Amino acid sequence: MSGAVWAQRPNAPAPGTNLGRLDDIPDGGGKEFVFGQGVNAWRMFVVRKGASLYGYLNLCPHYSMPLNHQPDIFMSRDGTRIMCRQHLALFRVEDGTCLDGACDGRALDPVPLRLEHGQVVIG
Ligand code: FES
Repeated sequence: MSGAVWAQRPNAPAPGTNLGRLDDIPDGGGKEFVFGQGVNAWRMFVVRKGASLYGYLNLCPHYSMPLNHQPDIFMSRDGTRIMCRQHLALFRVEDGTCLDGACDGRALDPVPLRLEHGQVVIG
């Protein structure tokens, strides 16, 4: 088991878990994936820029809350940044670094992803 933060949390899926088709993630948008239920559910989201994918735990480093209010809405209105809808922190898509707002000096926890024959796979 990896020592990465994503792998240490309850209900973390195993490396190699298939998240489904790349084409089901809107280009310029995102999609959430949840494993388990209730307060211990493991939640991540994937944002897509063309053929590039970026995965993060759905856990804001500000208050450890999910970033989204609406299903699968993780991007800022202009589509250039990941946005936490709780207190409007902004994060760089490519590495999850906090760029503005109540997350100074912190970053989203990455979840590694790979593409296999058009399928999005963890690990
Ligand atoms: S919980 Fe995300 S900005 Fe406060």
